[in-house]
Amino acid sequence: MEQAISAQSPGATPCSVLHEMRTLENSGAYFLPKLHALRELNPTLKVLDVGCGCGSVTASFAKTIGPQGRVVGVDVDPAKVQHAKNVAAREGLADQVEVLEADAYKLPFADAEFDVVHTHQVLAHTARPWDVLAEMLRVTKPGGIVVAREGDLDSEVVWPVTPGLEKFHKLIATAMNARGKGGGGSNAGRQLLPWALKIGVPRSKINFSFGTWWFDTAEHKEIWANAMADQVRSGQVREVAVKSGLVTEADLDEMAEAWEHWAAREDSSVAMMHGEIIIAK
Ligand SMILES: C[S@@+](CC[C@H](N)C(=O)[O-])C[C@H]1O[C@@H](n2cnc3c(N)ncnc32)[C@H](O)[C@@H]1O
Repeated sequence: MEQAISAQSPGATPCSVLHEMRTLENSGAYFLPKLHALRELNPTLKVLDVGCGCGSVTASFAKTIGPQGRVVGVDVDPAKVQHAKNVAAREGLADQVEVLEADAYKLPFADAEFDVVHTHQVLAHTARPWDVLAEMLRVTKPGGIVVAREGDLDSEVVWPVTPGLEKFHKLIATAMNARGKGGGGSNAGRQLLPWALKIGVPRSKINFSFGTWWFDTAEHKEIWANAMADQVRSGQVREVAVKSGLVTEADLDEMAEAWEHWAAREDSSVAMMHGEIIIAK
């Protein structure tokens, strides 16, 4: 089993510690052997990270493929683009990593430009995730790969189960499904395979798997709980959730406190499955 650091809920605090802890090792282990094999054949790999967010996975790509490789990160959110640029500069990777503002539905690249096209916890937030996958395939070279990993919220197991955590789970699922508009959503992980088949990828070109992450140490539980509590305490999520009439401010406070109490317990833990797909072009 793989232990990984991830959160796929919408409205997470921009670039929380949780997001910045993501690397290829903890969030992309499912395709690392394939990446190393491609790198052996070609030390000048070109990688695209779609919806790169805070850029820690993007930077991790650059370190993994080595100085002759090139990595491009794109995100629709200009604040994330700036943050990812800063991360690359901080890591001494500015020459190797380029970050651009772009929409995953319409990538500003020619056909067959990249050897590896990656996305992590982005499709869940899109209304037509299959179209994003098709666009990722368009910019992938023949012989290259498209790789995607998405969480599956209904596979979450948490101990202990408390009313505040149950309310949180329901709110996040509702918010994600509203944002996904019938496409992506809270259970994106299990749908990666159907989405790839829907756009005509032959089953023989697809490698599909599930990975599990969990948090059980005090350090990791604190990071996870802070990120979850911040989601319901921070202005935007709080305002939207209360305005929608889904919950009251008191409910949101209960959810935040529930995560804090959960983290403080020695016997608590949380786990979730992620769908992982490798598509060979
Ligand atoms: C949950 S974050 C994941 C970020 C990053 N991949 C990671 O794993 O740390 C989702 C990201 O997808 C971006 N995003 C959502 N829809 C997008 C779209 N249509 N085009 C490009 N980026 C998008 C958001 O701005 C956000 O940065």
